[in-house]
Amino acid sequence: MLFYFTATGNSLYAAKQLDDDRISIAQAVHGEGKKYTADKIGVVCPVFGHEVPELVRKFLSKAEFETDYFYLILTYGSRHGGAAELAQRMLEGFGIHPAYINVVLMADNFLPGFDMDEQKRTDKKADVQIARIREDIRNGVKFISPVTAADREAHQEYLGRIAKMQKDAFKNIYRITDECIGCGICTKVCPKKCFRMDGAKSVWNPKGCMTCMACIHACPMMAIQLRIPEKNPKARYRNENISICEIVDANNQWR
Ligand SMILES: Cc1cc2nc3c(=O)[nH]c(=O)nc-3n(C[C@H](O)[C@H](O)[C@H](O)COP(=O)(O)O)c2cc1C
Repeated sequence: MLFYFTATGNSLYAAKQLDDDRISIAQAVHGEGKKYTADKIGVVCPVFGHEVPELVRKFLSKAEFETDYFYLILTYGSRHGGAAELAQRMLEGFGIHPAYINVVLMADNFLPGFDMDEQKRTDKKADVQIARIREDIRNGVKFISPVTAADREAHQEYLGRIAKMQKDAFKNIYRITDECIGCGICTKVCPKKCFRMDGAKSVWNPKGCMTCMACIHACPMMAIQLRIPEKNPKARYRNENISICEIVDANNQWR
């Protein structure tokens, strides 16, 4: 049994190679916390600011897991900042005792920092990393990905930078341009129901948005743009092995 959250497909791609019994966290998060029982239970999700995304945290905080082997796989794009250690602390806080936590370096979908054309060209050997993890999990290996002093320093440096930013710096991060053709894809890939259609135009409501960037990457017209500088406003990303329908299936909140 494997729970996953994905915005642009990296985490789903990893999840598909780890377990056939997959449950989307964007769907499972609703309602009362449930009890899940299996020999092995895993979670795969991206790292946001070195940590587990808020939606995943919410799910983990209320679900109950009955298993001898709980594992967490974190996909990231450039700098994990000690994500495994931070996640372990979070899990322990929820009474979950992970047997295995590992990280997978994949394309970085964070638009303010990275040019997606460049990310698509860079081979980060994700398949090799995922194959190793699959073997580990199959063999019930116990392992928590090691964290260095430099990783912890990177996280502290990041926290310092965030503390200096205005509290609502990301509040109005997206704008929808006249290129919008009203296809509604943004309404279906958003895991927080932040988009709705107003006639033939999409409207974004920042309330609840966790800036996962599923919408901006999925828009076929590139009609969603950041209000803050980005590396390449003309380049967007989706894991090459994952279809837009799979992202919709995972995140759609309107069905
Ligand atoms: C809001 C946000 C924050 C991110 N923070 C980090 C980070 O701190 N370190 C990092 O290496 N990658 C970071 N990333 C990149 C993603 O973790 C990475 O691209 C991930 O594989 C995306 O997974 P997905 O395709 O399943 O959504 C961030 C991405 C977003 C959208």
